[in-house]
Order: sequence, then C-alpha cells, then structure tokens
Amino acid sequence: MRISVFGLGYVGAVSAACFARDGFDVLGVDVAASKVDGINDGVAPIVEEGIQELVSEVVSAGALRATTDAAEAVAETDISMLCVGTPSRPNGSIDLSYVERVSEQIGEQIARKIEPHVVVLRSTVIPGTLDDIVVPTLERASGKRGGDGVHACMNPEFLREGTSIRDFYDPPFTLFGATDDFAAERLTECYAHVDAPIYRVSVKAAEMVKYACNAFHAVKVSFANDIGNVAKAMGIDGQEVMRVFCEDTKLNISPSYLKPGFAFGGSCLPKDVRALTYEARRHDIETPILRAALETNAGQVDRAARMILETGARRVGLLGLSFKEGTDDLRESPMVALAETLIGKGIELQIYDRNVREAGLIGANRAYIEAHIPHIWSLMTESVEDAVHGTAVIVLANKDDEFARVEELRSDDQIVVDLARAIPGHTSSDWYRGICW
Ligand SMILES: NC(=O)c1ccc[n+]([C@@H]2O[C@H](COP(=O)([O-])OP(=O)(O)OC[C@H]3O[C@@H](n4cnc5c(N)ncnc54)[C@H](O)[C@@H]3O)[C@@H](O)[C@H]2O)c1
Repeated sequence: MRISVFGLGYVGAVSAACFARDGFDVLGVDVAASKVDGINDGVAPIVEEGIQELVSEVVSAGALRATTDAAEAVAETDISMLCVGTPSRPNGSIDLSYVERVSEQIGEQIARKIEPHVVVLRSTVIPGTLDDIVVPTLERASGKRGGDGVHACMNPEFLREGTSIRDFYDPPFTLFGATDDFAAERLTECYAHVDAPIYRVSVKAAEMVKYACNAFHAVKVSFANDIGNVAKAMGIDGQEVMRVFCEDTKLNISPSYLKPGFAFGGSCLPKDVRALTYEARRHDIETPILRAALETNAGQVDRAARMILETGARRVGLLGLSFKEGTDDLRESPMVALAETLIGKGIELQIYDRNVREAGLIGANRAYIEAHIPHIWSLMTESVEDAVHGTAVIVLANKDDEFARVEELRSDDQIVVDLARAIPGHTSSDWYRGICW
C-alpha cells in the first residue's frame, strides 16, 4: 500500500518515516518547500531522538520521498494521512483551516481517480470535524459520495515529542473511527507492524478520546502540583507523597472512579477535600483543581435535577438514596441533595433503597438524613414497584441489582433518568435519559 502523509511536522514526519520503515511506499507532502527539499536530501524536518537516522535510512532506501504537489501525492498513493496543524485561535477554538484546505486538495484529486482512496485524519480535532467538515469537503470537491469513492477515518495520534519514534511503535492502543468498512480495513493494514490493541469506535468517540486523554494528562499534572504545593507548605516532600500515591494501582492509578455518571458523596470524599483545601488556604496556597472537584460535583447534582425538572414531572420515583449501592450511609449522599432540590421544587417523591430502613438507621447517619429531609420516612417505599408506581419519572441512582428490572416495570409514558447506567445497553432516547451517555 502506498501512503501519502500531508503535513511534515512532528506527527507527519515521524509517521511518514515509521510507515516507510514498515515497508510502505510513503510520499510526504508539505506546503513548506524547505521541509520537502530537506526530506528528499535525507534531512529530518524536526529535532527528535532517532528521526535523523531513520529519515536518512528510508530516503536512501527509496521508501520515503516528499513533494509540495498534493495532486501528485493523491494520484500516486492509496491512502492519505492528514497530519496538518490545528492551532489555537485567540478565543481558544481550534483553527481547522489547514484541515479544510488539505481535504479540498485531496477531494479535487479523488475526482480524477478511479480506484478508491482512503483519507485518514490524524490531527487532533474537535468531535464532529470528520463528519461535518472533512467528509463534506471531500464530497464537494470530488463530486463523489461518502462510502462510494470517499472513504474516511479518524485515527488520532498519541505520540509524545521527545520519544515519538518509540511511541509510534508502542502506543497505548491504535484507535480509529471509520465512515465505512473499506476505510477501516485499509487503515488496519497500515498498523500491522504496530504491536498494540486496535479499537474501532464511532468517528466522534475517536475524536473525543484524544481530548479526554490530553485533558486527563493536564489534570494529572495540575493535581500533582496542587498536592505538591500544599505538601511543601506543610513541610512535606510532595514528590515522596505522590511516589507512594502512585503505588496504589487499585484505586489511584487505575480505572476506578473514571466512569462518567453521578456525583461523589459519602462520609469521606467531600469532607476530606474540603479539609485539604481549607488547610491549603490557611497556608496561602491555592488548590484550584481540588476546588474544581467540589464545584464539578455540585454541578452534577444540579444537572441531574435539571434533567428531571425538564420533563415537567410532578411525581418522581427515586431508586437509591445512600451514596452508593450496598451501603446505608446517607452522609453527604448526592441523592439526598438531589431529593432536597426536587422537594424544594414541589416534586412529590417516592423513594426506595433496600439498605435504608428507619429501624436500622442509627447515629450520625440518622441525624444527617433527618436534618436534611425531616419527613424522609413518609417518602420511603417498601419495594421498587411501590416507588415507581404512578410516577412520571423514575430516577436510577446506583447499580443495585434490583433496578435492572425497571425497564420491564415501566409503563410506556414513564421516563427513566439513569445516573448510574443501571440499565445497560441504552443511550439517551425519548424514554431513557442517561446523565453522560
Ligand atoms: N506534536 C505532537 O506531539 C502531537 C501529538 C499528537 C497529536 N498532535 C496533533 O497532530 C497535529 C499536527 O501536529 P504537529 O505538531 O505535527 O504540527 P506541526 O505544526 O509541527 O506540523 C504541521 C505541518 O503541516 C503543514 N501544512 C500546513 N498546511 C498544509 C497543506 N495545505 N498541505 C500540506 N502540509 C501543510 C505545515 O507546513 C507543517 O509542516 C495537530 O493537530 C496536533 O494537535 C500533535
């Protein structure tokens, strides 16, 4: 397979050289003649460990050359990879003009081709870019239709500058979304030499995963710095703290707590984050990431309340009241906060939680709920059936096994608001509303 790589910057130069080493016939394209001439002379256009040796090797082997002529590149290859820049505009939005321009150039040449041509977007782009900009531009410029002449994939890149050649061959995964199976198969062939799992997801999910990854990396750095700054102010070595922190691969460096859904609560997380931010302030240290965790959490309760209120329901069944399944702990349960908000808006509630029983509740737990919802016991029901009976909306707050049967119990006019994906296999529709799906 012959590959053209548009944009010979950090991503494009590394991809072009690595695909060439993997046995593909690669043609690099850039508007910068100096980069093109450099490559044809065996000179890498970027500074990066190992790239100079690799470019020189694949260029002399005849596996890689470069051109400024987009038409030639499309005519002579089977697949085009777009690695052009997507810089920030002053207002923070991304500038997609390079992506659009290259799509137009490629589309004009696809018009002249008989064989199918696959276009792969590797630049980091806001979800919707492939479907709403790249494919329509290719269609307009080529006069052909998506899936019939126009075949496209979103295949984000995960390399890091400094270790990019190593990262190319050892990525966390190869991720893509494709407009059709032909595009998916061609792209998969390109990664035959890369030993990593291949995940095919929807095009928009592929675009979004890249942002989720970079946002998470940014949050990790700033979280570590928030902790390090408070630690130092208290006379503690911040790096020692985070070194041990990272040894916990069960809860800390793990998939735990990384499922979008409802707010956190309980007797520890809110209290302890509050205490730490208070202590930080006492030392004149700002901890914006920690503060934001509390703000986002409160926002998630508001979001759930809005989802319920927007239905116009007057009677609502709440399934789950404690802060998570399998416990009767109501202290700082976000469901209690949600229930309070709904009661304040005049909503009639029917609440069921098999772990929360008036007779069984003692101490701080009982005091907490009675201080927040004094008439709580008159709202509690004995079964899921009783809680959903006669309501317009059923809210699922946790994954208690009992809640899965709500799908069968509900009548056609009842809306389910799912905060925990207690009923798997659905995304939001007319009767089913997931909080983050
Ligand atoms: N740099 C990284 O570590 C990295 C990692 C992963 C993803 N990304 C993403 O990959 C994309 C590219 O990043 P980069 O750092 O390689 O960018 P870059 O700015 O280094 O390179 C972009 C290249 O595209 C060329 N170009 C612009 N318009 C063109 C056109 N019409 N035809 C051909 N070439 C054209 C430019 O001349 C330039 O050489 C961005 O979306 C970026 O967010 C970057």
